[in-house]
Amino acid sequence: MNQYKKIGVLTGGGDCPGLNAVIRAVVKTAMANNIEVIGIHNGYNGLVNNEMVTMRDHHVAGILDRGGTILGTTNRDNPFHFCVTENGQKLFVDKSLQAMKNLKDREIEALVVIGGDGTIKVANDLIPLGATVVAVPKTIDNDIPGTERTFGFDTAVHVATEALDRLRTTAESHHRVMILEVMGRYAGWIALHSGIAGGADGILIPEIPYQLDAVVHKIKKRIRQGKLFSLLVVAEGAKPVGGEVTVARIVENSFEKIRLGGVGVKIAQQIEDITGIESRCTILGHVQRGGTPTSYDRVLATRYGVAAVNALINGCTADMVALQRNEIITVPINVVANKPSNIALDNKLLQAAALTGVCLGQ
Ligand code: F6P
Repeated sequence: MNQYKKIGVLTGGGDCPGLNAVIRAVVKTAMANNIEVIGIHNGYNGLVNNEMVTMRDHHVAGILDRGGTILGTTNRDNPFHFCVTENGQKLFVDKSLQAMKNLKDREIEALVVIGGDGTIKVANDLIPLGATVVAVPKTIDNDIPGTERTFGFDTAVHVATEALDRLRTTAESHHRVMILEVMGRYAGWIALHSGIAGGADGILIPEIPYQLDAVVHKIKKRIRQGKLFSLLVVAEGAKPVGGEVTVARIVENSFEKIRLGGVGVKIAQQIEDITGIESRCTILGHVQRGGTPTSYDRVLATRYGVAAVNALINGCTADMVALQRNEIITVPINVVANKPSNIALDNKLLQAAALTGVCLGQ
């Protein structure tokens, strides 16, 4: 019951390992069903500015394991609040009708939108204007509601775990406190998973405001036990009890204006001041987002891409593919309007961390 001849695909928001694997699966599945795929460049920017290309076999050959996105992306460019320059002045205008016109002119009947909450929220807003959309949840942060996993998360955890393995040996040699600051925005998923996998002594996440005293207590206890070094993972969104997050920069005209970063550096200085133990912070940054996806992410991304096209073929019009209990299902796309997916305080993995002696800053 395939009613489509032509669909569009775009990648929006911050890049993430596995984007190309999704694009590949979308194109291959669509071609197998005689549907033409139009690739839209640079997220919603290409939709507004009509920068699109017909995707053929050769576009998706050899991209399964490639990081980034062959279509390009941006975490700005909301069609409903689109930045244009007129007479040297920056103005924000509503270009949503232009975006819809471009879809109509190109005879694109439905869109596969691969993105995080900002990108999916915009897709949701295009639906009342007549867009047919199936979204694919992308982000290393794993903070999209309605799904247990976003693709890209596994790779980020893998990279962070490897960094911890490397920091451990230098921490041990120098009898230092080593802190690894990881991404994740306001969710601590990358910190929690990598911290457990990398055997961190402390994991500080946004969901549990930390008391520095608790961290210092843990470090001193280790020293009394003859363990002269400590390894901590700090999520970029971690904040002290009664305090605020650390803002690295403001990015105007972005889906999310605030960029977090730097809390690990502050904590390292405070620990050194209090304990006298040399402390260093490594901010892992975009290394977590670049490069080749893990096999898990390649598989998940492929499953999502296939499922997104199948969802359209089966009549979905305003949905997001999601992973629940290891099955790919669809959920209404407006699920992204719900609270982001944070770590609940009764999360089993969080409990496992506490039971295995990890300091959670309490
Ligand atoms: O949402 C993905 C993410 O990598 C966050 O973890 C991080 O806070 C943010 O994007 C960084 O954004 P940018 O690429 O604009 O610096």
